[in-house]
Amino acid sequence: MSSEPVIQRCRADDLAASVDVLGELTRCFGLAVADVFSPGQCAEFLAGLYRARGAWVSDFDGEQFSLGRAFYTHLEQDRCREYFADAAASDARVERTLPGLQRAMVRLVEQLTGGVCFARRGFCGPGVHVFPAGEKVAREGGVIHFDTEGLPEAHVRRRKRALTAVVMLSLPESGGGLKLWHARYAGSDTVDDEAERGASCEARYELGGALVIDSYRLHQIQPFAGERDRVSATVHAAEVDPGRWETWF
Ligand SMILES: [Fe+2]
Repeated sequence: MSSEPVIQRCRADDLAASVDVLGELTRCFGLAVADVFSPGQCAEFLAGLYRARGAWVSDFDGEQFSLGRAFYTHLEQDRCREYFADAAASDARVERTLPGLQRAMVRLVEQLTGGVCFARRGFCGPGVHVFPAGEKVAREGGVIHFDTEGLPEAHVRRRKRALTAVVMLSLPESGGGLKLWHARYAGSDTVDDEAERGASCEARYELGGALVIDSYRLHQIQPFAGERDRVSATVHAAEVDPGRWETWF
């Protein structure tokens, strides 16, 4: 086994200049990028988000919510039709509620990849997940999974590059990090055999900081405690042609 279980750390400002992000994502479990948003920006986004509760999408019977529609939740709940029908309105709601957030998330992908980013046609742009304090994910953690669900089949088959970036807007009092395993997607959505998952590490979030992972890496949101919800902004990205990345939520 390689000496992989590390999270590489850097600052958002240093990304374009000095970090080989795509290389790091294959050498390391993940990349932590500090200061994507300032604490002030996070507070503003959070205030806007909670003022707009009526615009949230409820998933899995209120286990979790989002602002903007997330593809994987709709896929798993058989609601893809709703996802695509509402994509433009979803983006408008995110922009109205959290001005500049989508742009900043896409800009982050451009900084990470050094490539050019395009909104994935027909899909919803970056959005926000709210995992409520005390709810199922807080108590039990999330599902162990890969972020391959939103990728076109041919993209996955050829293992073309894809990444997920999550920026933490509100940290729970404790826990809520991301457990990452050595295992990468090998044709099955689940890896039940613990030995096959390989080595693991738990990456912690910083407020306003991103965790960036290869979408083919096995991962799981960890349980968390306290009164505060776990709130994060997510963008998925896939390299469709060399240097050209499509983004969605
Ligand atoms: Fe994920």
